[in-house]
Amino acid sequence: MTDVATATELAVCRSVTVVHGRGAATVTALDEVDFSITGAERVGLVGRSGSGKTTLLHVLGGLVAPTRGQVLLGGEPLSSLDAAARGQARARTVAYVFQGANLLPTFTAFENIAFAAHVSTLRDGREPAAGEQQALDPVELLELVGLGAKLEALPSELSGGEAQRVAIARALAQRPALMLCDEPTGQLDSDTGSRVLDLIDALHARLGFALVIATHDPEVAARADRIVTLEDGHIAGDEELET
Ligand SMILES: Nc1ncnc2c1ncn2[C@@H]1O[C@H](COP(=O)(O)OP(=O)(O)OP(=O)(O)O)[C@@H](O)[C@H]1O
Ligand SMILES: [Mg+2]
Repeated sequence: MTDVATATELAVCRSVTVVHGRGAATVTALDEVDFSITGAERVGLVGRSGSGKTTLLHVLGGLVAPTRGQVLLGGEPLSSLDAAARGQARARTVAYVFQGANLLPTFTAFENIAFAAHVSTLRDGREPAAGEQQALDPVELLELVGLGAKLEALPSELSGGEAQRVAIARALAQRPALMLCDEPTGQLDSDTGSRVLDLIDALHARLGFALVIATHDPEVAARADRIVTLEDGHIAGDEELET
C-alpha cells in the first residue's frame, strides 16, 4: 500500500487532443490538454456538459487513444505499447467507476467482484510474485463497503446506492493506484450520494490510491484536494484546495 501512496506521476497527459468523428462532423473533445496526477491526490474534474470530462477520464484510463499527444501510465507511454501490453499497463494502474454501476446482471455481488479480480490477473498475464500486491478478497471488499450481507444478491436485488458500492468494491479488487470515477453519485439521491462519497473517502484514506472524479455535484468537488475545470476541451482552471 505504501508504494502506491508514494508513487509519483501515475498518469500524465502531454498536449493531448481527442477528435471524435470524421469529415465535416468532427468534434474536438480535448484540445492540447496537459494534466498529471501524482501520489494519492483527489482531483475533482468539473465543467459544463460536453466540456470533455468523460473524454479525459477515458484517455487517462487508456480506453481512448489520443488523436495527438501522449498519455503515460505509471511512466509508460501507452502509444509505444501493443494492445496486450497496454491492457497490462491499464490493469496494473487504473480502475474505473462509471455513472451507472454497470454490474453483470446474472452474476451475484460476490461474483461481479471476483470476476473483475480474475480478469485483472488474466490481463496481467502472470500470478503476482511473493510480496507483490495481490487482488483484494471479494468478501473482505464487500464488508469494506458495508455489504457483507449481500454477497449472494443479484444486481436486480440491490438498490442504486448498493449497486454503486459493489461497483466501487469491484474497482478496488485490483488495488488500483489510480481510480477514475465518472459522476459516481449522478444517479443517487443526495443522502445516498453522500454515503457513497464517505465510503470513497474512507477507502482513499485506507488504500491510498489517487482519485479523479468527474462531477457536476458541488459536494463531490468540495471533498477534493484539487479542482481541475474543463471548458470546451481546454483546462480553464487547476487549483489546489485548502484542506
Ligand atoms: N464517441 C463520440 N463521438 C462523437 N462525439 C463525441 C463522442 N464522445 C463525446 N463526444 C463529444 O465530445 C465532447 C466532450 O464530451 P464528454 O463526454 O467528454 O463531455 P462531458 O464533460 O463528460 O459531459 P457530461 O457532463 O455531459 O458528461 C462533446 O461535445 C461530445 O458531444
Ligand atoms: Mg461525462
